[in-house]
Amino acid sequence: RAALRGSASPAMGPDGLVFIGKEEDIKKSQRITAKIDGREIVVFYHEGKFHALDSRCYHEGGPLCNGEIEDIDGQACIVCPWHKFKITLETGEGLYEGINPLEPSPTPKWQSKGVKQRIHKLTIDNGNVYASPPDLSVNFDSDYYAEKYKKGGELAI
Ligand code: FES
Repeated sequence: RAALRGSASPAMGPDGLVFIGKEEDIKKSQRITAKIDGREIVVFYHEGKFHALDSRCYHEGGPLCNGEIEDIDGQACIVCPWHKFKITLETGEGLYEGINPLEPSPTPKWQSKGVKQRIHKLTIDNGNVYASPPDLSVNFDSDYYAEKYKKGGELAI
């Protein structure tokens, strides 16, 4: 399969949104990757909802498109296949299991490290799914790998 070169412009939807795929197709496959302005994102369809995130994990760039989805404390999370970091699909927060050593009998609890993975806003219009161009005035840890793999061309899985 030939790699796309140069600035193959993606189909534009309403208001400059980028066409990602057909709603029905994504519902069937449950996950797809797509590019917005050269940046790879992954779109999941999970329990009746669409979610879009940068496809490269904020930790070291693992391919989230190959991860499993797990429910953690009532939150759907993608588990990175490389080092098993957990990222909420809804908000892009990194979760970790921490203990408070000051508690009398410390038990691990899931806690948030804050939003680490950039999430992308999706719009569904007429059976088509579109993503909004990312707002790059705000930074997230995953931006580093998004940029790195953008320059690197074809993705290594
Ligand atoms: Fe994702 Fe390390 S690269 S957990």
